[in-house]
Amino acid sequence: MKIMSIVGARPNFMKVAPFVRAIQRYNQSRAAAGQIQHILVHTGQHYDPTMSEVFFHELGIPAPDINLEVGSGTHAYQVGQTMIAFEKVLLEIQPDWVIVIGDVNATAACSLTARKYGIRVAHIEAGLRSFDWTMPEEVNRVVTDRLSNLLFTPDRLADENLRREGVSTVTICCVGNIMIDTLEYERPHASALDINQIISANQLPDQRNSVHLEADRFALLTLHRPANVDAKDRLGPLLETFLTIANIMPIIFPVHPRTRTRLVEFGFWQRLCDHSQLILTRPLGYRDMLRLNMDAKVVLTDSGGLQEECLVLGTHCLTMRENTERPITLTEHSGTNRLVGTEPAVVLAAFHAIQNIPRRVHLPELWDGATAERILTKLIGAACQ
Ligand code: UD1
Repeated sequence: MKIMSIVGARPNFMKVAPFVRAIQRYNQSRAAAGQIQHILVHTGQHYDPTMSEVFFHELGIPAPDINLEVGSGTHAYQVGQTMIAFEKVLLEIQPDWVIVIGDVNATAACSLTARKYGIRVAHIEAGLRSFDWTMPEEVNRVVTDRLSNLLFTPDRLADENLRREGVSTVTICCVGNIMIDTLEYERPHASALDINQIISANQLPDQRNSVHLEADRFALLTLHRPANVDAKDRLGPLLETFLTIANIMPIIFPVHPRTRTRLVEFGFWQRLCDHSQLILTRPLGYRDMLRLNMDAKVVLTDSGGLQEECLVLGTHCLTMRENTERPITLTEHSGTNRLVGTEPAVVLAAFHAIQNIPRRVHLPELWDGATAERILTKLIGAACQ
């Protein structure tokens, strides 16, 4: 059997790692003829070493067999270029399955190309819905799920979304969250790291300040959604909020390339650099981020994956969005995540409100570190039931 897995952007890398390991384990116990041939394709959507290569090294993912080198561009450019380049690869290799992950442009582009050639598509992280069609990821999620032959969902809420859309229940496999496989696998490595060493190794040279971090006495911030960073009148008030929080406790801010470009363009960069308790770092590797999350009092973010990691680590998460495709993480479902939007007063009120609430871990069903094994078993059987 030939399986081709697609990765393109940062959030894909931590999700493919356990799947690759599951295939390696499967192959170890079989003669060559019965082994799975795995082909890893990187579309090249993310290409900076800190956004891509670092994760391959750290998570032990083999170098991609094929890199489509698509790079940055508009949505149409990225999706179009990926489809054109991927079509050649697909026709040459003719895999039995194409595995797509998450909701990035690579996911939608490759599932569409494969399905047009009648090659079966399986989607890892299927069924998530923010119901917000202004998010490019929501378009990618819906398109990919509609095209997929097998839909591997992380939780029962995702199953329900798919059933409501009329997806046949025999194609829906609730397998748990594959990213938690990586979290559990990497947890011991991350635990051994020192939070202050992480900062000194990664702080941007633009800053001269330094802080000494203590567990439960700092905030971790990430921000990269176009809706939050591409408009000056949205980004400006958000930054004021962060500066207010930084007066209360240190904030660690690993800066995404898109966000950095905007901060410089809008003239905000120097102000951030100058705050004594706001620490700007380059994008961090997986273990560094996990280690900081383990000790952070609160994570302020507009990322999807961090909402889930906070849930499993018990860290308070304030999500600076109006909605989430990951409702299982919310306090309504016994989680640690609160949707706070971007209104400064609301974000600040939530920041104060969580101060005296202790950490509390919550593990949804099947978030047990064995999701990749379940996916492979179902794939080999080519059915969910
Ligand atoms: C993409 C995903 C998003 C995911 C995010 C994680 C889509 C539609 N969006 O958004 O779901 O949460 O990745 O990071 O697929 N850039 C670099 N170096 C890189 C990559 C990007 O400098 O290695 C810069 C470029 O200026 C680029 C911009 O970042 O134009 C945005 O990159 P892009 O891949 O378009 O989307 P992300 O915002 O990273």
